[in-house]
Amino acid sequence: MATKIQSAVRNPKAAMRIDIVTIFPDYFREAFDYGIIRRACAAALVKIQAHDLRSWTSDKHHIVDDRPFGGGDGMVLKPEPLFAAVESLTGARRREDVAAGKRVVLLSPQGKSFTQSLASELAQAEQLVLICGRYEGVDERVAEALVTDEISIGDYVLSGGEPAALVVADAIVRLLPGALGNETSASTESFSDGLLDYPHYTRPSEFADMRVPNVWLNGDHAEIAHWRHEAAVKKTKRNRPDLLK
Ligand code: ADE
Repeated sequence: MATKIQSAVRNPKAAMRIDIVTIFPDYFREAFDYGIIRRACAAALVKIQAHDLRSWTSDKHHIVDDRPFGGGDGMVLKPEPLFAAVESLTGARRREDVAAGKRVVLLSPQGKSFTQSLASELAQAEQLVLICGRYEGVDERVAEALVTDEISIGDYVLSGGEPAALVVADAIVRLLPGALGNETSASTESFSDGLLDYPHYTRPSEFADMRVPNVWLNGDHAEIAHWRHEAAVKKTKRNRPDLLK
C-alpha cells in the first residue's frame, strides 16, 4: 500500500483537494483566509472544503455518536457516517480501495507523529481527507479498516481533531509548488536539514541594550553562512537535543 501511494506523484499543475470531515464545519470558516494558505487557495493550488459529518447520517436526528461498549465516560463517534463520508469523497469503502494518490487521515492522539517529512510526503497527494475525531474517541474500525494514516500532532490531548486538521493542512499547503513566494525558503527552514532554523534579526541593530551580532552587519556571506549554521546547532542543542541524536 505505502509503495503504491509513494509512486503516485501528484501532477503539480492539478490542484490538490483537501476534504475535512468534522461535526464543526464552521470552525474552519475563516481558518484558511490568511497569508500563504489564502494565496494558495486563490491561485487554485489547493481546494479546501469542510464537510459536516452529520450530512452522512441517515436517521432523523443526525446522530453521529453513541455510548462506548463496555462502559466508561463519554461518547464515541459511530463508524457508519465516517465510512459513508469517505466513500462519497473518495469512492473507497475500505483502506485497500483508496486510490494511489489519495490519503485518508484520522487525526487522533493515538496516531503516528506528524513531522516535516510526513508533511512533504502528504504534499504529493492529489486528495487528502482529514477526519476530525471527537468526544472520547472514534470507533476503532475506522482506524483499522478505513484510514490510510492515523496521525497525532503531538503528545497531548486536544478536545477534538479540528485544531490538528488545521495544523496538518497548513503545513502541507505551504509545501505545494508555488505556495511560498521564495521557492528556496521551504528547503532552508527548521527540520529540512535535521536542525532548527537559525535565528533571524532585523532593524534596529541595537534595541534596549541588545545588539545584533556583528557578523550579521558586515555583509560577509561566507561568514554569515558559517555563523547561521553554528547558531542553528546551538539552538537545536538547547531546545531539541533529541534532533541531534
Ligand atoms: N485529537 C486529540 N488530540 C490530538 C492530537 N494530539 N493530535 C491529533 N488529533 C488529536
